[in-house]
Amino acid sequence: MIQVKGLKKEFVQGQERTEVLKGVDLEVEEGEFVAIMGPSGSGKSTLLQLLGGLDLPSEGDILIRNSKISNMTEKERTIFRRKYIGFIFQNYQLLPTLTVEENIAFPLHADGSLKKEKSEQIINLMDTVGLEGLGKKRANLLSGGQQQRVAIARALVNHPSVLLADEPTGNLDRSRAEEILTLISKFNRENKQTIIMVTHDIFAAGFADRIILFKDGVIDQIISRKDGDYTNYVANFMA
Ligand SMILES: Nc1ncnc2c1ncn2[C@@H]1O[C@H](COP(=O)(O)OP(=O)(O)OP(=O)(O)O)[C@@H](O)[C@H]1O
Ligand SMILES: [Mg+2]
Repeated sequence: MIQVKGLKKEFVQGQERTEVLKGVDLEVEEGEFVAIMGPSGSGKSTLLQLLGGLDLPSEGDILIRNSKISNMTEKERTIFRRKYIGFIFQNYQLLPTLTVEENIAFPLHADGSLKKEKSEQIINLMDTVGLEGLGKKRANLLSGGQQQRVAIARALVNHPSVLLADEPTGNLDRSRAEEILTLISKFNRENKQTIIMVTHDIFAAGFADRIILFKDGVIDQIISRKDGDYTNYVANFMA
């Protein structure tokens, strides 16, 4: 489903070059739920942005559903992303002047298919993420946790085959986080959605089949759920 080969990314600012991804190789199967954990600044969000085709690698390739997105033009990447990828950003990136329901429906407008029957789907999704009754409220008037839930609903509305989530529950309390993670896992199991989720939270990572420990721009280790109790190990790694 997802193949990453020799992926490197450097940022150049004036005279300064920063190599953020230093050679990442990874394969994720269809329907797999993978968590990425690692220290702040290790390159997790950068990796996710490249996987979502929001930016291009300096070196290496990314294949999603056998399409090489690292070779596509910006326009091709945009079309591909709308069709196959749901993205939950670390800072939500809602459209502040649009309402909650307009934000959630946004990916549907893009393919011109906002129909009456869709509004029921949006109301159901709002209920599921805990935004009932807030559909007409402007996004910039919501709390951080509420905005995060709008971002989650927006990413799921298209039933994307790949969901990329950057700290999707970082701003939520434990019980709300558990609800959202259960929802994401349910999508994963029932629709064979492939999920890559960046998280600092070992509780959230526990929902994944594999945990990728990321450090200094490379994969340090991959832990499988089948490996037994990894909680202390991961806590030490993150410390
Ligand atoms: N557009 C950019 N231009 C220059 N440097 C960047 C850019 N984006 C990211 N970086 C740098 O790349 C490094 C990795 O950033 P990234 O956001 O991928 O880390 P992260 O692992 O997601 O961290 P966190 O856990 O804090 O979210 C940082 O040093 C950051 O300053
Ligand atoms: Mg990040």
